[in-house]
Amino acid sequence: MRAERNLNAGARPDRRAPAAGDLAAVPYADDGALTDRDFERFRALVRDRSGIVLGPHKRSLLRARLDRRLRALALANFGQYYEYLTSGAHPDEVERFVNAITTNKTDFFREAHHFGFIAERWAPALRQAASRGGTRRLRVWSAACSTGEEPYTLAMTLLDAGLVPPEWDVRILASDIDTEVLGRARAGIYQAERVEPVPEPLRRRWFLRSRRDPGVLRVRPALQALITWKQINFIDEAWPVRGPFDMILCRNALIYFDRAGQRAILTRFQRLLKPDGVLILGHSESVLGLAEGFVNLGATIYRRAPGASV
Ligand SMILES: C[S@@+](CC[C@H](N)C(=O)[O-])C[C@H]1O[C@@H](n2cnc3c(N)ncnc32)[C@H](O)[C@@H]1O
Repeated sequence: MRAERNLNAGARPDRRAPAAGDLAAVPYADDGALTDRDFERFRALVRDRSGIVLGPHKRSLLRARLDRRLRALALANFGQYYEYLTSGAHPDEVERFVNAITTNKTDFFREAHHFGFIAERWAPALRQAASRGGTRRLRVWSAACSTGEEPYTLAMTLLDAGLVPPEWDVRILASDIDTEVLGRARAGIYQAERVEPVPEPLRRRWFLRSRRDPGVLRVRPALQALITWKQINFIDEAWPVRGPFDMILCRNALIYFDRAGQRAILTRFQRLLKPDGVLILGHSESVLGLAEGFVNLGATIYRRAPGASV
């Protein structure tokens, strides 16, 4: 744990000669620590670019993540990296910076009760309404979708619940601020162990095993065809989305924002939902005290109250 030792103890790193292609061996400059000033400046920059609020305990996390960028650019210290980012001359690096600071943990069928709700309560109600002349057009948004497990789980669940095109017009918008995870999501290629939470019948129906590498699975194009991928930053003034949505999932992303940021995002979601549209948040998130006009349907599942003005 070379990085931690350098940061916290202020000790000088070993000056090994770097081996070709061995980034880890590139030595730090003498002043390679993340100073208090650096930390405050990067925290402000992260917040400005993404809305993500990094508490003081995130210092070593930030350092570890930015350290990779420093080494990739062969910069001597964090001060230089800050200048590089804020000079206005390297927009690509600003994108990599944002990608580096996001936390992208996700899984297929993560918080499985949400998909149970969709399969057992939401989809049957929609089918029943459709049989009485209601709509067969569904618009769902997986906001902050990371590497794609969430929108693919959603797509499998909707189809498995009988909301099948062409009888049903189903579109899923999947978005994230992070362009790197979005690229991986769009590719739909996963290590077999990541796909293990997908029930066997769905795995057989919706994944192809790579001929070259049996440890790798690929999402079938027919499932991918339901999904549109977009980069969307929640703090941008304009979101390139067209509502209204029948359902918005925004799980495990609001936790990175302060209450004012959460309130602003929830208000915008509320405006984009149909009057009785459904909002699903992550397990430690809530609309409580942040947005009026939602009815709680169960664990972190809400329905926009039809009469609610937003
Ligand atoms: C922990 S992941 C959650 C993934 C998935 N929703 C789930 O629950 O499994 C949080 C995601 O929020 C995204 N995110 C962070 N800040 C964002 C912002 N300002 N706008 C949009 N997405 C953001 C991150 O890039 C990351 O992929």
